[in-house]
Amino acid sequence: MELDALIEKVGDLPTLPTVVARINREMENESLTAHGLGVIISEDSAFTSRILRLSNSAFYGMPKQISSVDKAVTILGFDTVKNLALSLSVYSFFKGGRETVIDIPGLWNHSLACAVCTKLLIAKSSRKLAEEAFLFGILHDIGKMLLINNNLADMENVLRISRDRGITQNEAEREIFGFTHQKAGARLAKKWKFPGNIVMGIKLHHDLPPEIKKLAPETAALVRALCVGNQMAKALSLGISTNPHRRDIPVIMWKSLHVNRNELPKLSVKMKEDFNMILRDWGND
Ligand SMILES: [Fe+2]
Ligand SMILES: [Fe+2]
Repeated sequence: MELDALIEKVGDLPTLPTVVARINREMENESLTAHGLGVIISEDSAFTSRILRLSNSAFYGMPKQISSVDKAVTILGFDTVKNLALSLSVYSFFKGGRETVIDIPGLWNHSLACAVCTKLLIAKSSRKLAEEAFLFGILHDIGKMLLINNNLADMENVLRISRDRGITQNEAEREIFGFTHQKAGARLAKKWKFPGNIVMGIKLHHDLPPEIKKLAPETAALVRALCVGNQMAKALSLGISTNPHRRDIPVIMWKSLHVNRNELPKLSVKMKEDFNMILRDWGND
């Protein structure tokens, strides 16, 4: 299959969530302000109420009720609200209501769990990257949704042959499509104008340890957290990835994330708690 043609087909509106298009375009031009972000969100009242519901989630632990988008930006911060808006908007790509054996709500929950785990992992070494890490998790398997939305029968076939022949999902993807969901997802995120570090995260999220020599230090840290966050979401059975196969996490990855192995039980409990909190307030409308 021709990946270029697939990306060309789905890259433009209306499949591209409008909020993503507007935020990413203004981010790219460095013209997105807190006020502008508020305007983009406030134009859609259903979207606004979902942003507010999530802003008030115990996941963010704010003591006071947040009653407006402006307050959300002031209290939670610009990056948090921006990434929440992007995440909510990407969520629309995970809905479709088609008849399939693939557990799409489970895949969304896996993405949300990966977001929570990646955020907690990066926070051990860098608090300022935590919000970006959340978005890395939300987007990491976007390539799977691209293939489900556009080539459902082939994607079902990928899962079938991977299970029946005991090959990895990536091997089956290469056989059926000629490329992996990481590659497809990275291309889609690039087309949708997500920043280069997120594109890199999507591309490398199955590589343990990832080839990070040429990456800027912050991107490298985010990519490492994402690779481990993805495995943790699976290990803790939070959500359902289409690929139940788990990889061992090399010791060097834990070290680079500043996570001591004996902290893992406590960190795992926190991952589960945070996932359940955000899942409850995410809703399914
Ligand atoms: Fe993946
Ligand atoms: Fe995943």
